[in-house]
Formats: sequence, C-alpha cells, structure tokens
Amino acid sequence: MGFLFFILLILQNKFNYLSGQSKPILKEYISKEKISRRIKQIAKKINKDYKGKNPIFIGILNGSFIFLSDLIREIKIECEIDFLKLSSYGDEKISSGNVTLLKDLNCQIENRDIIIVEDIVDSGLSLKFIKNIIEFKNPASLSFVSLLFKKNISNLDFKVDYIGFKIKNEFVIGYGLDYAQKYRNLKGIYVLKSIN
Ligand code: IMP
Ligand code: MG
Repeated sequence: MGFLFFILLILQNKFNYLSGQSKPILKEYISKEKISRRIKQIAKKINKDYKGKNPIFIGILNGSFIFLSDLIREIKIECEIDFLKLSSYGDEKISSGNVTLLKDLNCQIENRDIIIVEDIVDSGLSLKFIKNIIEFKNPASLSFVSLLFKKNISNLDFKVDYIGFKIKNEFVIGYGLDYAQKYRNLKGIYVLKSIN
C-alpha cells in the first residue's frame, strides 16, 4: 500500500513537472520575527548615530522596498526618503556584471547625510556603482545599510556600516527579494531549493 502511494506521488510530480504546475521547494532561512528584531536593533543604532541630523534614506528598488518600509518606521529622528532603481540581474540568479541606472534620484543630495538602503549585497557591484553616483554629487556623508550580506563573495573596498545578517552563498528570496520577479511578498527569507 505504502509502495503504491509512493509510486503515485512520483507519477503526480512527473505530471506536474510536464504540465508546468510544479511547486518550488522553499526552505525558511530567516523568520519574520528574527528580521523584525534585527531591524529594531539597526534602527536604534541609526537613531543614535544620526541624532540631531536629518538624513535622506535612499532605497534601492525593487528589492529594498519592504526592508526600507519596516526600517523607516523604527526611525525616530527627522528623515527623508528617495529611491534609486538599478538593474543587473534580469531573471537570472547570477549577476550579469552590468549595472545600469533605471531611475535616478528626485532629491538634491549635496551637503546632505545619505543612507543607502539595500536588500542584499552579493558581488558588491551594485553598491560600488551607487557609491560612485552619490559621491559625485558631494553629500555631507554617506553610509550603507544592507539587510543581508553574502560574506564569502562580496568584494568591496569599503565598509557596509549596518548589516542585518551575514549569510552564506545561497540564493535567497522573500521579504522583498525576488527570483524572476516572484516571491517578494513572502514574510520571511527563504532559500529556493529547486524550481522545475
Ligand atoms: P550585487 O551587485 O551582486 O551585490 O547584487 C545586488 C543585487 O542583486 C541585490 O540588490 C539584489 O537585488 C540582487 N541579488 C543578489 N543576490 C540575491 C539573492 O540571493 N536573491 C535575490 N536577489 C539577489
Ligand atoms: Mg537590489
């Protein structure tokens, strides 16, 4: 009986695969509770470091939109928000190596304190590109926040000032992070184990 069930399961998976209905396997990596606790800690540090200042938080679209919206609601100091949109990955899991600017800033950043908010630093190419754009416009100061940081591959010659979690070289999704534009709506962060 058990054996029959097992065979049926394999046949069903095969059918799902052939008909394109197969579900990806998601493994929880960081729970929403853990993310929330860490964001409160990061915000506390930013509130302290920027006391008496009025920084501009610049979210990097699309991935950082959930992180930024949660982080900003823990910020107690005066602040402003703007967004930059970059493209480098397309629908792939590996960076194309070409970073392009899809949406520029709407605010003036000369002599302002700038805090860049990223979802994840992988190769570090995007952050290097952003640093060049921002520094060219002479801000008073520039710092970087990233929820995730791939410690074994990030190749930066400058510091990411606030890091949520250092992670291994795994492709993660959820909490704003996508694979081919999907899964951004998940509340926690997951590793995408297989997609047929
Ligand atoms: P980098 O330029 O290689 O550091 O990559 C930066 C951007 O690639 C991030 O802002 C993400 O949008 C995307 N990215 C990098 N790694 C992942 C991942 O594991 N999951 C989803 N998106 C990723
Ligand atoms: Mg991103």
